Amino acid sequence: MTDLLTSAQMRAIEQAAIDSGEVSGLELMERAGQGVVEAIFEEWPELAEPVEAGRGASPSSSIGHSDQSRNQGRPQEYLGKDESLRRAVVLCGPGNNGGDGFVVARLLKDRGWEVEVFLYGDPDKLPPDAKVNYERWVGPVRKLANLSENDLWPYRGVLFVDAVFGTGFRGELPEDIRGAYEFSREQITTNGPSRFLAVDMPSGLCGDNGRAEGCVLPAHLSVSFHRAKLGHFLKDGPEACGKVVVKGIGLKDSPTEGADGRSPAVPTDGEIVKLVAPHLPGKRDGVHKYSHGHALVLSGGHGKTGAARLAARGALRIGAGLVTVGSPRSAMAENAAQLTAIMLQQIDGAHGVSELLEDRRFNAVCLGPGLGRGADTQALVVAVLKENRATVLDADALTRFERTPQALFDMLHDNCVLTPHGGEFARLFPDLAEKLNASATTGPAYSKVDATREAAKRAGCVVLFKGPDTVIAAPDGRCSVNSAHYDRAAPWLATAGSGDVLAGFITGLLARGFSPMQAAETAAYFHVECALNFGPGLIAEDLPEQIPAVLRRLQV
Ligand code: APR
Repeated sequence: MTDLLTSAQMRAIEQAAIDSGEVSGLELMERAGQGVVEAIFEEWPELAEPVEAGRGASPSSSIGHSDQSRNQGRPQEYLGKDESLRRAVVLCGPGNNGGDGFVVARLLKDRGWEVEVFLYGDPDKLPPDAKVNYERWVGPVRKLANLSENDLWPYRGVLFVDAVFGTGFRGELPEDIRGAYEFSREQITTNGPSRFLAVDMPSGLCGDNGRAEGCVLPAHLSVSFHRAKLGHFLKDGPEACGKVVVKGIGLKDSPTEGADGRSPAVPTDGEIVKLVAPHLPGKRDGVHKYSHGHALVLSGGHGKTGAARLAARGALRIGAGLVTVGSPRSAMAENAAQLTAIMLQQIDGAHGVSELLEDRRFNAVCLGPGLGRGADTQALVVAVLKENRATVLDADALTRFERTPQALFDMLHDNCVLTPHGGEFARLFPDLAEKLNASATTGPAYSKVDATREAAKRAGCVVLFKGPDTVIAAPDGRCSVNSAHYDRAAPWLATAGSGDVLAGFITGLLARGFSPMQAAETAAYFHVECALNFGPGLIAEDLPEQIPAVLRRLQV
């Protein structure tokens, strides 16, 4: 089952349901509007009924992107006096997203709300179902284009429903909608009392790759239908969308037949999984430490050893039975002074590592962090890859091949994991990075998911493309996204050495016998959990130390 959809996949699923006669497009639009209204009352229960002072109000009455900010609720008495409650401004656009907006406006009005509707575009050019809902709306419809901030100022404090553009949006928000944008921005950044809800996704955001080419109308809550879309979790999506809620509209997970009656609407190699707490089996009772694997982490030379120790610590904490740091002679004293549970072994160059790996008990290797970009690093990579062990290549082990990426790909095997950040990715896959950075004004947009999938195919192994929106892909097309979003953002991970710890986590899990895809997914998930567990002030050394608490909390 896929968790995240592209806009094309969503369209195909809807179209298949419509073509099969199960449901009409109009009915789907009605259900979407109902879903939005449900979500409004679930998120802001104080809006559900007229509120009297001190009664019926939710303790979470203020708004914000995080639980902390939501819990700093306004005093309950305020709600009783607030005339703006049960007032909404619905901003509708020229497509089906606008149609959903008209349904929301009608349903709120039916419940006694005071609703103002603004439309961007020509009502005569609305698509058929949106047009029907435009006509069903009985109140006035004002023009949204060229509104100024001042025009909207009187509506401060009301619920704003952004149904201007949804998944069909490409490129930049038109100039003549900037007034609404400025107003919304001001309201959200100053944490004003207005509530902003985006139907499907905030206008200005690309549903397929999460890019906001120009400005975007950010939301506190985005209500999506059937499944979340890629754009909610990639790039600018998490910040723009706020909390993402998904409402069912009676569609099947994956209709067996697509619109043409032959192909599946969501091909299995199009599945994208959003990572949830993974299963990390505990250590088995009564077994020897070697049953949990022996990880080898190669250290850089004198003065460049910290990265390897961070990775080694990560590998040990995530559960490798033994971890050895392989160090050049020049760095032995330095490493020895700082290692205790982790073992140390002198390794002299590529020959040394080949000799060491004759011991088959070393079943996972991490190389790259702190190794430097010299010829020695290349020789080490060649020597390690020849030994056919589960291997994580990170940092300098990747950058060393920036001029000859194909030479690296030719040596890689399916028991490898590459962990590039944006810069390293661009060095190994310059054409994919370029596609990723190019803007799409029409048609399907190229996303980090597409780029990572292509990279994994080309490399012939798992690629974990780091970032706040980490994407992991295998050569067979399996793909998962581990994204920051409103309650799982860990900005403190942007700190020196955190990537080294991630490489260590993956290596430790490989040593424990995880498959490369499983190891990368589990490590990425734990990495964020560790950062969240520690909170602000985090430095890389803190990450491995959170593992026991995270394991206890996740009860794995
Ligand atoms: N500037 C101006 N107009 C644009 C731009 C742009 N940069 N990009 C797209 N549009 C226009 C399109 O020309 C089209 O008229 O926006 C409209 C499409 O917008 P959507 O409503 O997002 O797309 P559509 O495919 O009609 O509907 C998808 O419908 O199922 C609902 O809400 C759900 O998001 C979903 C939406």
